Amino acid sequence: MIFRQLFEPESSTYTYLLGDTDTGKAVLIDPALETAERDLGIVQSFGLQLAYTLETHVHADHLTGALKLKHLAGSQIAGPALDRLPCTDVGIREGTPFRVGGISLHPLFTPGHTATHHSYLLREGDTQRVFSGDALLIDGCGRTDFQSGDAVALYRAIHDKLFTLPDETLVYPGHDYTGRQVSTIGQEKSRNPRLGGGRSEAEFVEIMNGLELSYPKKIDFAVPGNERCGECPPNVPQELHKLCDVTRQG
Ligand SMILES: [Fe+2]
Repeated sequence: MIFRQLFEPESSTYTYLLGDTDTGKAVLIDPALETAERDLGIVQSFGLQLAYTLETHVHADHLTGALKLKHLAGSQIAGPALDRLPCTDVGIREGTPFRVGGISLHPLFTPGHTATHHSYLLREGDTQRVFSGDALLIDGCGRTDFQSGDAVALYRAIHDKLFTLPDETLVYPGHDYTGRQVSTIGQEKSRNPRLGGGRSEAEFVEIMNGLELSYPKKIDFAVPGNERCGECPPNVPQELHKLCDVTRQG
């Protein structure tokens, strides 16, 4: 299997490339619009065909590259079925593995950052990785104050679905703002300042309610745009117009 962690610096988003060398099929988890062509180039440089893009959730901080990649590479758009987005080709549900060639991703319903957020578990030999989206971040977690966010739901999802994974499971988050790339379930359980070290649900809710985060600067166009899989809505800023032409290359 080919595995690469790719980075979009403006929103500090991680995109993950998984490629099955036997069948030549690849998936990009959470591609960003800004880096869609770069990431497609990386997929193709391995001789792989981009079969799917796969979302963990409807993002508020950046536009997805899903629709652009569909136009450029013919990839199908996969994402949580609970989102009921008309632009999605494949609806993902917990309990039904998502297969890309010989790669099987196991969806885990992890609401709280958004009401329909999913994480994806990948087992490969002795290595287990979880792509935790914006549910569990390294020493942190996704915010719960927008987009149907719910701190109690996030606490329960992380404890019930992620912290029950083996300690050595590698955690690959949807973002990191300080350059960290990977953690483990054991590390997050022991030292995540919001959720680790036995913090209670009530303590977590208090922390999340006290964050006083600023209003996400792209949310007003990113959410409606991502509900259309990355088609820019009319209120997108001028500087993004060029990117928004999903049929355009270069
Ligand atoms: Fe998010």
